[in-house]
Amino acid sequence: MRVTVLGAGYVGATSAVVLAYLGHEVTCVERDAVRLECWRSGSDPLSEPGLAELRAVRDVCFVDDASAIASADVIIVAVGTPMGSIGEPDLSQLDGAVAQIQAFARTGAIVLMRSTVPVGTCDRLQSGPLRHQSVVSNPEFLREGHAVHDALFPDRIVAGGREEARSVVEELYRRVINGEDLFGGDGGRRVVPVFWMSARSAELAKYAANGFLATKLSFVNEIANLAQTVGADASAVLASMGSDPRIGPQYLRPGLGWGGSCFPKDTRALQSIADGAGYDFVILRAAIEQNRRQLARFASAIEMAMPRRSAVGMLGLAFKAGTPDTRESPAVALARLLIRRGLRVSAYDPAVRKLPEEPDVVVRSTILEACQGADGVVIATEWPEFAKVELSEVRHVTRGDLLFDGRELIAPSRAIAAGFRYQGLSGFAD
Ligand code: UGA
Repeated sequence: MRVTVLGAGYVGATSAVVLAYLGHEVTCVERDAVRLECWRSGSDPLSEPGLAELRAVRDVCFVDDASAIASADVIIVAVGTPMGSIGEPDLSQLDGAVAQIQAFARTGAIVLMRSTVPVGTCDRLQSGPLRHQSVVSNPEFLREGHAVHDALFPDRIVAGGREEARSVVEELYRRVINGEDLFGGDGGRRVVPVFWMSARSAELAKYAANGFLATKLSFVNEIANLAQTVGADASAVLASMGSDPRIGPQYLRPGLGWGGSCFPKDTRALQSIADGAGYDFVILRAAIEQNRRQLARFASAIEMAMPRRSAVGMLGLAFKAGTPDTRESPAVALARLLIRRGLRVSAYDPAVRKLPEEPDVVVRSTILEACQGADGVVIATEWPEFAKVELSEVRHVTRGDLLFDGRELIAPSRAIAAGFRYQGLSGFAD
């Protein structure tokens, strides 16, 4: 099939590269000249594992000219829908993409909406500017750092729109749906279920999944906090919960709260959808509030233990391990809060070399450089290298003996043996 993808961010570029690998003829349109040049020159601005290897098998044609839409059987919309000023998604990039489709798309072409958009958007486009095309909501469930894997081996494909578009969508993903032995797979064939529904349902299914995962994490963080108050061991409680298949072991790691370019934006958007419909989504509201408090609580604990002007060695800046992405990163938000409260922050992150938007955070090149002379060390991102660090070496370069573990990466006994006073999410350990 001939496919044109609009947007070469991590959803668009990953979708484009994976579809080319599956045998489709794919053009990807990107209007940002710097990003476009990056893709054209063969480099990978996303550092997504596996992307370069797939491109070596069969590449995508990256262009800036939207007229490639004219020859497409399927047009994929994968532009950003960032958070607007009052929590609602900003749809200006989507409006631009729709105008391009209107200008070039042939009658009957399928428009796949991969961007996360408010419920009702596809219906509105179908009955309005894209009435000559068939608009299908096809949300993505790609995790940053695992996007290629998640695109080739999804748990499910969710799509919704007119029934006549279904066979085209199934043909587009046929090799994935059939569980073919694709790049990076373990050879275990598994047919991927396709959930075909109305466009509105598919749009809500995306928000529901992210909203539920975020709520699960907020609940987990509440349990970790409560464990401290009642003298229980959070890790034992959570591990036992996870062995119940109805709960499951994933997304049970407590931390500084959830961040990234998706959960914060999508939970706020879901709340704004509910508000707009006059529905009080009380659990979601609480999950968002809990997430704000989680970070503030940890920041207060640090502030109470460290006098003003103290130096913090911060380990981690990315919003999670495995990505250089610092958008809505709890680690960066924590650094900002600490600086606002009069502390000084030197940070190290294996994937983040500079942080221009936070000039007061000094970014160092190694763990030891970031911790040199620090009064306290803070673990803010769950990078495996922080779990493995030789703590006595770190203690050797710090001035103070405080270790705040915002990701519960270090066993308290190990920290204490290295000469630190350890505080996890659940308070101080002796
Ligand atoms: C998330 C979803 O997991 C994807 O399915 C979805 O497609 C994507 O958003 C999106 O909407 O595009 P991602 O933002 O890459 O993917 O991040 P996650 O790996 O889900 O992590 C989100 C946040 O939860 C991070 O801050 C992470 O540190 C935190 N987290 C995750 C925890 O604190 N504990 C956990 O056990 C798991």
